[in-house]
Amino acid sequence: MIEEETGIRESVKGVNMDVITWRRHLHENPELSFQETKTSQYVYDILQSFGNLELSRPTQTSVMARLIGAKPGRVLALRADMDALPILEETNLPFASKNFGVMHACGHDAHTAILLGAAKVLTNLKKQIHGEIRFLFQHAEELIPGGAQEMVSAGVLGGVDAVLGLHVSSQVPTGLIGINDGPILASMDAFKIVIQGQGGHASTPHQCKDPVAVAAQLITGINHIVSRKIDSAARAVISVTQMQGSDAPNIIPDKASIGGTVRTFDPDIREQIPQWIEQYAKGLTEANECSYEMDYLRGHSAVINDHQFTSFVKKNINRTFGDERRYLLKPIMGSEDFSAFSNVVPGCFVFLGAGSINNEENYPHHHPKFMINEQALESGVELFVTTALDFSRAKDPETNNSAR
Ligand code: NI
Repeated sequence: MIEEETGIRESVKGVNMDVITWRRHLHENPELSFQETKTSQYVYDILQSFGNLELSRPTQTSVMARLIGAKPGRVLALRADMDALPILEETNLPFASKNFGVMHACGHDAHTAILLGAAKVLTNLKKQIHGEIRFLFQHAEELIPGGAQEMVSAGVLGGVDAVLGLHVSSQVPTGLIGINDGPILASMDAFKIVIQGQGGHASTPHQCKDPVAVAAQLITGINHIVSRKIDSAARAVISVTQMQGSDAPNIIPDKASIGGTVRTFDPDIREQIPQWIEQYAKGLTEANECSYEMDYLRGHSAVINDHQFTSFVKKNINRTFGDERRYLLKPIMGSEDFSAFSNVVPGCFVFLGAGSINNEENYPHHHPKFMINEQALESGVELFVTTALDFSRAKDPETNNSAR
């Protein structure tokens, strides 16, 4: 057993240079959501070079690879997202983006390279694998409604028993792995409200129906929803982040608009929030003789880690990396379209520390200077490989009795 684990660690180390090379290539050539044409071709070609994989294109810019084991068993899906962001990179890295204004500023280049590394190691172990390991290289995580739902609709989860995904974090020291069951990432919806008033000269507001003044009242109203209507034990965030009025100080516009984001873990609260927002919009515009139009865009639902599968992954983390490298992941109000997968089959989403030792270098995700520590890549590959092998061999999913 111990010999075998050493063997796996050596195999993971053996692909590390490849993983770094792939990651740097992806970082240098980022593509935006739904435009991952070269990225997905690059991934496809590398996967093809491994042999032993059944490759397909569930959507135009995603890739699925199936490693069918030599023996029957369960099916585990491993997922990585591949898209970049509309950000002008300022890292000065030798492999900084060559695609002007587009940057891998969230670490999806790392996720893709890690999953390629895991696929390479596991492909060589085909004879030992029971069931199937399915590699999902997903497009368009950064835009709602996101690429995950498209892949699910294309049938990528057919026969899958569980799905595992990870996200690097520049805010967590390299070496640590965060995991927890239950709520991990919040749902994310977006709204926009256009207030129709009657514009005119700013010196005579009494002759106008000022939509900017109504927008201000509406923002105050919306900011009361979380504190006055939602149980303080539940988690929800509503942020009004956009506001448009006229372009000049002396013009009251005909229209003003506000927009923002709504995040929560509770599906009932998620259903109620748009009604509460609309109540304010309706009441306040009526009181001010204006009218309104509201658009409410449903985004990702919350990522809720499955208790049983997460316990299984946690046990593997303890055995592979040691208890001291595991930290308890707290729910985050950020969102992820991984939920499109984990809503259908039991899922587990973990965080992989990739922060630099020098704290000043740890820029947040989506920042032009965002960077990761490449030492984290090897742990990501090892996490995927060992979990996949364990899952493939686990005889009894109820008790997680491993055949190892
Ligand atoms: Ni991300």
